[in-house]
Amino acid sequence: MKTSEQWLAHYRQNLLVQRVDWSLKPEITAAESEQVLSSLQAWQLGETSDGKNLLAASIKYAKEIGDEYYPAAVELFIKEEQKHGNNLGRYLDAIGQPRIKKDWGDSLFRKIRYYNTSMELWTLAVITVESTAQIFYQSLKDATECKLLKQICTDILIDEAAHIDFQYERFYIIYRQKGRSSRALSYYFYKLFYFSTILVVWFAHRKVFKAGGNSFRRYWSKMNLKFKKTIARLREETLTGTQKNHRNYDKHDQKHKVTIAGAAHAQNSIAPDAPAQEQPTISIHNETAA
Ligand SMILES: [Fe+2]
Ligand SMILES: [Fe+2]
Repeated sequence: MKTSEQWLAHYRQNLLVQRVDWSLKPEITAAESEQVLSSLQAWQLGETSDGKNLLAASIKYAKEIGDEYYPAAVELFIKEEQKHGNNLGRYLDAIGQPRIKKDWGDSLFRKIRYYNTSMELWTLAVITVESTAQIFYQSLKDATECKLLKQICTDILIDEAAHIDFQYERFYIIYRQKGRSSRALSYYFYKLFYFSTILVVWFAHRKVFKAGGNSFRRYWSKMNLKFKKTIARLREETLTGTQKNHRNYDKHDQKHKVTIAGAAHAQNSIAPDAPAQEQPTISIHNETAA
């Protein structure tokens, strides 16, 4: 798990990398364009959000947990999304197609974003949309022979993989600080949100998914796998971490400490001989400061 300072360094470095050769001429065919253009325009618009509300939520959240680097990391994360929007826009300009100003999916998502001030909901929404983005851009890449468009998609796919890690780690920190019953409830809400959103994304962009070789069944099973690697993993790792941490016995203190510090830390600290009946002292470590 990276600290926010490390994520900030990652984004700073990644923004300097140029993976698209803009000297290439676009070679999209009319048939390819018929399959992908409207979705390409919609995603271009979606990637150009100013990110003001997300940034505001992250500043508020960072103050609460005392993580001074987090908002700066989020700011660069937003910049990277805007880079995707700019690159797709530049491509649209190059093929003589307009950048659209309105799309129903984008308007809906913008409304949700506008009212959302919770870091937890932001993280859930971003993980969900980025999981669909991974399949979308891979499908777009596979649906065309245009080298320039393929390069743009590859660049986005590289960024998105890191985005999911960035969001997953934050989600894990937020999730494990919840109480047991609140975790169970939240988990079912996450699941409902995730699967209903990916259904909407399928219907909006199925032409591209299909052109990229993904039937609905295939898309669903890929998305299911992504769910297991992100949101379901959240629950598993929190359980594993808690179980292991229950065996974390601090002999120097003569007290039992439950260190809710995540699976990675828990793996290093197992003392199976801790007496079972005494009440443990709970100490919550701030992962981001570790
Ligand atoms: Fe993006
Ligand atoms: Fe992203």
